[in-house]
Amino acid sequence: MTTTLAERWGIDQKHFWMHGEQPAHPVRFDEARKLWTVSGYQEAVQVIGDPQRFSSNLLPLMPIDVDPALTDGNLIQMDPPGHRELRTLVSHAFTRKVVADLEPRIAAVTGELLDEVAGQDRFDLVTALAYPLPVIVIAELLGVPASDQQLFKQWADALFASQSELSMNEDDLAAQEADMTEQNQPAAEMGEYLLAHAAERRRKPRADLLTKLVEAEVDGKQLTDAQLTNFASLLLLAGHVTTTMVLGNTVLCLDAHPDQLARLRADRALLPAAIEESVRFMTPFTALYRATTTEAEIAGRRIPEKQIVTVQLAAANRDPRQWADPMAFDITRDPNPHLGFGRGIHFCLGAPLARLEGRVALNLLLDRFPALRTDPTAPLKFMPSPDAMGVSELTLLTS
Ligand code: HEM
Repeated sequence: MTTTLAERWGIDQKHFWMHGEQPAHPVRFDEARKLWTVSGYQEAVQVIGDPQRFSSNLLPLMPIDVDPALTDGNLIQMDPPGHRELRTLVSHAFTRKVVADLEPRIAAVTGELLDEVAGQDRFDLVTALAYPLPVIVIAELLGVPASDQQLFKQWADALFASQSELSMNEDDLAAQEADMTEQNQPAAEMGEYLLAHAAERRRKPRADLLTKLVEAEVDGKQLTDAQLTNFASLLLLAGHVTTTMVLGNTVLCLDAHPDQLARLRADRALLPAAIEESVRFMTPFTALYRATTTEAEIAGRRIPEKQIVTVQLAAANRDPRQWADPMAFDITRDPNPHLGFGRGIHFCLGAPLARLEGRVALNLLLDRFPALRTDPTAPLKFMPSPDAMGVSELTLLTS
């Protein structure tokens, strides 16, 4: 009997798609969680492409009241027209050029981090590179001290620690409530921290993204303090946790597929496509959530209004109706229209940054360590959140 990668890696059954399973129907009502699950590729595209019927604002359906001031400006939870206005505004500050100009700095930081493990026969990729690199880059970009990274890690760990999935089942409400209440404290601390830095920029502008956000204006409108801090919090969080996962996952996938690694070592131009394939094969954000604003029919199933719908991006990224040989990790897959960065109006704003960090960091890692491989004796560890798929520890041997 052959073991699958998912078995070899000890992947939890909750990530069923890593085990090659697909639900019998692409749209199902999950009785245990009392919400709808969409796992087919075309069906997922339909849901995330239709913000009118599938809203990103789940707050009205949540079991506890959340102060709207805590979420105003959090693009991910907004719908048009507010979403469009804010996204236009922040896009003026967070442009492709701003990101592209970071390349030399990303290379320098990667170089310094890898210097620290030079000469070692083994190191943990996450501690050495995959965590600190994106957090230093996003901190410097925003203009907050990178030396505060322990603080950011505490907040990120607290906000991503929850091991319970979103559920609308009455029996789970108490646990959900406890989770949400626990997250209030770190979220508020992070907000206060960023607000203090933003206030400082209003007084004394600098060449950083916080200053650009403070000054950004569209049609005479500027960001309010709440919008500014919530958006900056989103960047700070989304700006590192996900990229950490992509770096670790790509190394893991390449290690498990020596033929693909050899091809990449022989032709580094394949690296961007290898990163895309890693995001498809081990999708870091495995699920998105939406709320129906009206009754909606998807794949012949009628979803009533005011229901939570979870879009299983990771399952959609392996839907055999969409992908040829979906269980194969193929760095030459072309085209590769995966949904790992979302699709439509909420398409990941940080995708250019994540792709750039991945390319620069992995190139340097391959340059410095010609014999890099995982340590077969070290158990793999994954992020605890059920909606995340990424290594949280990955021991590598250097020879
Ligand atoms: C949105 C994934 C890196 C900032 C999204 C969405 C996904 C995603 C799936 C769509 C959410 C939705 O439709 O509800 C990822 C992955 C990343 C990554 C897999 C790493 C490889 C980043 C980085 C940043 C960032 C580095 C910032 C520096 C954002 C923001 C949004 C977003 C601000 C919201 C956009 C909007 O709602 O209009 N991301 N992301 N992401 N991402 Fe990323």
